[in-house]
Amino acid sequence: MKVDVLLGLQWGDEGKGKIVDVLTPNYSIIARFQGGPNAGHTLEFEGIKHVLHTIPSGIFRKDVLNIIGNGVVIDPVIFQKEIEKLAPFNMDIKKNLLISKKAHLILPTHRLLDQASEAAKGINKIGSTLKGIGPTYMDKTGRNGLRVGDILSPKFKEKYDALVEKHVGILKHHEGFEYNLTELEAPFFEGIELLRSFTCIDSEQFLNKELKAGKRILAEGAQGTMLDIDFGTYPFVTSSNTVTAGTCTGLGVAPTTIGSVIGIFKAYCTRVGSGPFPTELMDEDGEKIRKEGNEFGSTTGRPRRCGWIDLPALKYAIMINGVTELSMMKADVLSIFDTIKVCTHYKINGEIVDYLPFDIDGVEITPIYKELRGWNCDLTDLHNYASSSQALKDYVTYLEKELEVPITVVSVGPDRKQTLQNIK
Ligand code: GDP
Ligand code: IMO
Ligand code: MG
Repeated sequence: MKVDVLLGLQWGDEGKGKIVDVLTPNYSIIARFQGGPNAGHTLEFEGIKHVLHTIPSGIFRKDVLNIIGNGVVIDPVIFQKEIEKLAPFNMDIKKNLLISKKAHLILPTHRLLDQASEAAKGINKIGSTLKGIGPTYMDKTGRNGLRVGDILSPKFKEKYDALVEKHVGILKHHEGFEYNLTELEAPFFEGIELLRSFTCIDSEQFLNKELKAGKRILAEGAQGTMLDIDFGTYPFVTSSNTVTAGTCTGLGVAPTTIGSVIGIFKAYCTRVGSGPFPTELMDEDGEKIRKEGNEFGSTTGRPRRCGWIDLPALKYAIMINGVTELSMMKADVLSIFDTIKVCTHYKINGEIVDYLPFDIDGVEITPIYKELRGWNCDLTDLHNYASSSQALKDYVTYLEKELEVPITVVSVGPDRKQTLQNIK
């Protein structure tokens, strides 16, 4: 069997949580492969909205295993809060959630370092979620990090103290940066206790055995391709590989095991945090999208920047990921427009290009738009794509032709049921 992958093609928040939840009944295992609690994945069903940060989005379906892979970074404090939020729903989480011993731990001092580093950057700040993601991955690649497997060792506290001492040394260089570590440590060690009560495994061994046994696995991405550490709009990116290749390193599965790659995008585009965004709308239309799409961060509550869909960026993301099928999200949000714009090219220094240049930060980019007819009708009760408006079908057909990949899912609302599947 193969590992299918679902990942974001834009700047995150495309609706990954919703679609993973919708697809979960087709799989035995859902596995997160990178990122950490910077992610906020929203699922809605039976009138309840859930936001997951570390736990994979298959957790609400019975008899499906959820794995937090080695490529993920875990904050025990946030993990504990997530588990507590799920308590009223009577799920057997300890049975259905397994954690890689190789996943790295976010320490309270990682969060402090994130804050101090962003403050020091001033107007050049990344706009990080301040969850300690960057410093934790830096310790991982710097070979200083602590892993989930370490919490099972009697030497854990000793290792923790040694790393904290290093961090405190660095924090001393941030003049005027004040903190109270003792206050932050109590919930951290509570979270560590909770983590110890979960089954921590060699997830790469487990996943490969399950694959051999014919089990279907869906890998759930976090963030989006334009936030990838190598291929995103560097330095305004996150600190992990959010692309398909990240599945292999973040779960320990070989490239030859990858099956379908489902790329997910909004019918328009959003970004939260700093950094270039060529199709960003600073006008009334941007405001309308934000309002209609409820575009406020699931993790930080920050207003998301909104704009029209960006085909050069999407084509780039499809290329890097080897996308085999597409899910188009939030089609209902564009119902408010008579005309919808699609960016087909960029104009840079008088030249018209259809690719992303090396550095788009600080470069004046004028998007070239094609206008398409809007559908101007409520889609939120639509259950059958065939009976939808011709304008929506024309939009989908146009994008498929440009992107050269079939769109198989169109999402028309936040609820699980507001999903048009297998439209092709
Ligand atoms: P993720 O990080 O990719 O999982 O996405 P988020 O959960 O951060 O953001 C997506 C937001 O859009 C959430 O509030 C979802 O409930 C909502 N959403 C998902 N699909 C649709 C859709 O088709 N229409 C509308 N209106 N909202 C959607
Ligand atoms: P999901 O999985 C949207 C953005 C932050 C910031 C940059 C770096 O919900 O799609 P970090 O905290 O990683 O240091 O932040 O990346 N960012 C996200 N934006 N969705 C996310 O996750 C994001 N995770 C990080 O806003 O610009
Ligand atoms: Mg999100």
